[in-house]
Amino acid sequence: MAARSLRIGDLTLRKPIFQGGMGIGISLSGLAGAVAREGGAGTISAAQIGFMEKDFEENPLKANLRAMEQELKKAREVASGGVVGFNVMAAMNHYREYVKQAAKIGADFIVSGAGLPVDLPDLVKSYSIKIAPIVSTEKSAQVILRYWAKKFNRIPDFLVIEGPRAGGHLGFTREQLEEFSPEISRSSRSVSQSGRDKSQGAFGAYGKEIEKIISKVREYEEQFAKKIPIVLGGGISDRQQAEAAFAMGADAVQAASRFVATEECDAHENYKKAYIEAKEEDIVLVKSPVGMPGRAIRNSFLERIKKGERIPPGKCRGCLKKCRPAEIPYCITEALIHAAKGETDKGLLFCGGDAYKIHKIETVKSVMEELFD
Ligand SMILES: Cc1cc2nc3c(=O)[nH]c(=O)nc-3n(C[C@H](O)[C@H](O)[C@H](O)COP(=O)(O)O)c2cc1C
Repeated sequence: MAARSLRIGDLTLRKPIFQGGMGIGISLSGLAGAVAREGGAGTISAAQIGFMEKDFEENPLKANLRAMEQELKKAREVASGGVVGFNVMAAMNHYREYVKQAAKIGADFIVSGAGLPVDLPDLVKSYSIKIAPIVSTEKSAQVILRYWAKKFNRIPDFLVIEGPRAGGHLGFTREQLEEFSPEISRSSRSVSQSGRDKSQGAFGAYGKEIEKIISKVREYEEQFAKKIPIVLGGGISDRQQAEAAFAMGADAVQAASRFVATEECDAHENYKKAYIEAKEEDIVLVKSPVGMPGRAIRNSFLERIKKGERIPPGKCRGCLKKCRPAEIPYCITEALIHAAKGETDKGLLFCGGDAYKIHKIETVKSVMEELFD
């Protein structure tokens, strides 16, 4: 499939792909810059981005805001004019500050999921930065499109649909996961392509929900006489799946896990090794303290949690709007920082449902070529 370029206002992607934001410390300037250089959209994750800064423990907000500027600058140096933006999760404390910082320092776009980014248009109203929500269900698409249209008289510049085979936090309840990905209920694990119900197409039972989301988007396109490009992601790791996404009506794909084991990815080498070594049965669903299910690689950390052990949080950095430090089984920021630092036995290693298909370290260029050329 020859890659079609995609225009989003004044931005042009030579290859119709968004590299999904990966926090903490997995998609920073190295990965985002390389993807942008190759013609895709590189996404820097803003989640606790300043975790390596000296003052992070005393003042995480200040460290994070500074690191956002540093990482964007470094990514731009690598990207040679390519498109670079931020993923800012709506569930984060200080969401407003991170969004405003992304706009102020001149990022090309902000993608926002893990909750609905209801006030995003208002926060960036004096900037030309492109904005996009991440949705997983028709209901969440409907809520955010209607709210933005009514309250701000605007529509998203593009919209990301994230399916049940994605990595990190998932925008589904456990029941919805079972509905959209019935194989999950059978094994409580994610399954391979071969385990999907082929009669339902490449996206399985979720295909119908994608259709409903897209038809909802079409209503708003008509109302505003403006196209809303659809970016579809979650378990896209090869050309066949990318083609299936375009056949479903996507204008671009979003892929994250496939980029982890690349030379340019900012993840620690132990993290990349965990991806290369993971087998299908090692990829499991976890309940995150954020209150959403997530997908990750089984390791000794997850075994402890599964046995009911509580790993009491050390210092609370106040990362999430809704978190009760005295009740949670572990601190999500601590677990993700351990992973980012390569302390994989103590860390939470998020990954998508197809991560077990990765067997070697590649380059961003070769991944992009495999997906498109
Ligand atoms: C290691 C990892 C970290 C992630 N972190 C975030 C994040 O901070 N914010 C977010 O919105 N999505 C996050 N995601 C989801 C990705 O951006 C992406 O949408 C999803 O993983 C796509 O599925 P794939 O990994 O199968 O390609 C993460 C995914 C992974 C694998």
